[in-house]
Amino acid sequence: MHEDLVPPDDIEGMDDKETLDFATEYDVLEGLRYMGHEAQPLGLSDNLGKVREAIAELKPHVAFNLLEEFHGVAVYDQHVVSYLELMKLPYTGCNPRGLMLAHDKGLCKQILSYHRISTPKFALVPQGRRPRIRRGLQYPLLVKSAIEEASLGIAQASVVHSEEKLVERVRFVHEQLGTDALVEEYIEGRELYVGVLGNSRLVTLPVWEMLFTKMPDNVPRIATAKVKWDLDYQAKVGVRTQAATNIPDALLQRIQKLCKRVYRALSLSGYARMDLRLTDDGRIYVLEANPNPYLADGEDFAESAHKAGMDYPALLHRILNLGLSYKAAWRV
Ligand SMILES: Nc1ncnc2c1ncn2[C@@H]1O[C@H](COP(=O)(O)OP(=O)(O)O)[C@@H](O)[C@H]1O
Ligand SMILES: [Mg+2]
Repeated sequence: MHEDLVPPDDIEGMDDKETLDFATEYDVLEGLRYMGHEAQPLGLSDNLGKVREAIAELKPHVAFNLLEEFHGVAVYDQHVVSYLELMKLPYTGCNPRGLMLAHDKGLCKQILSYHRISTPKFALVPQGRRPRIRRGLQYPLLVKSAIEEASLGIAQASVVHSEEKLVERVRFVHEQLGTDALVEEYIEGRELYVGVLGNSRLVTLPVWEMLFTKMPDNVPRIATAKVKWDLDYQAKVGVRTQAATNIPDALLQRIQKLCKRVYRALSLSGYARMDLRLTDDGRIYVLEANPNPYLADGEDFAESAHKAGMDYPALLHRILNLGLSYKAAWRV
């Protein structure tokens, strides 16, 4: 885990806001210990030597990987996982290749297009370039970072209706986030999340939906950074997630099959969550794939596993076993 997120031993008396940042780290550690495992937190930010030392000293059976950046760079998490593989230490969650493919949203969409998996039409705008929208993209468009996650940089202003606003928002992504920009057609529809677990045999978790029950009608219903992380704002606009209802069985099956295809197309392993939009006329679009999704107890992934009959310890157990059984190249 990131060294800033190593949880305190005791969180008694802390409220949800105070524990939000390290909720996953805390819950996983507690969960593992509750199951009788000997679990040690290892906080990292920029020193791989700590991993080497921990492996030598503790001789762990498996690393429960909760790291999301290294040197402050989000996409460097995959290199740390590569290091674990080079050290021949089994780890939970996604392999380096899957992490690399899924974190590059542009590349990911190119791969999905090759497999004829429906994803919003898009254009990439590299840093320093002005957007030149040639391929008949229709406004409204949504502008986001080509690599960042957790809705970083996604706000209501990310949905643009004119070239002027498009140029402005692309510049925002370039300058404020320091990454290439991804411009996509904005898909009006229901916001769905689908968990997938597995290495070769895959299981999908019940389809989960984000509802915006008190969002004013003129505001796009999207999961902005505020929607995801600001507890007061969540209450204000009535953000809630729950098992999706009113989806016909045939469509549910299509969604599950689609999510498994995405998982395989991107070489994912361990566990992941697919973000989808479903339009009123039944079209499904894949927004992105999230390997190693947010795993706090009581949050979407864990809740959807719960709905499928897996309580939190059972989910952690499953994830551990997938990590232990993953056939990394050194094992064959
Ligand atoms: N093309 C799109 N059409 C509609 N909404 C979108 C689109 N792209 C992103 N969003 C909204 O923004 C949220 C975050 O985008 P996403 O691609 O999942 O990035 P992140 O990695 O930050 O989660 C989505 O959950 C969705 O609500
Ligand atoms: Mg997302």
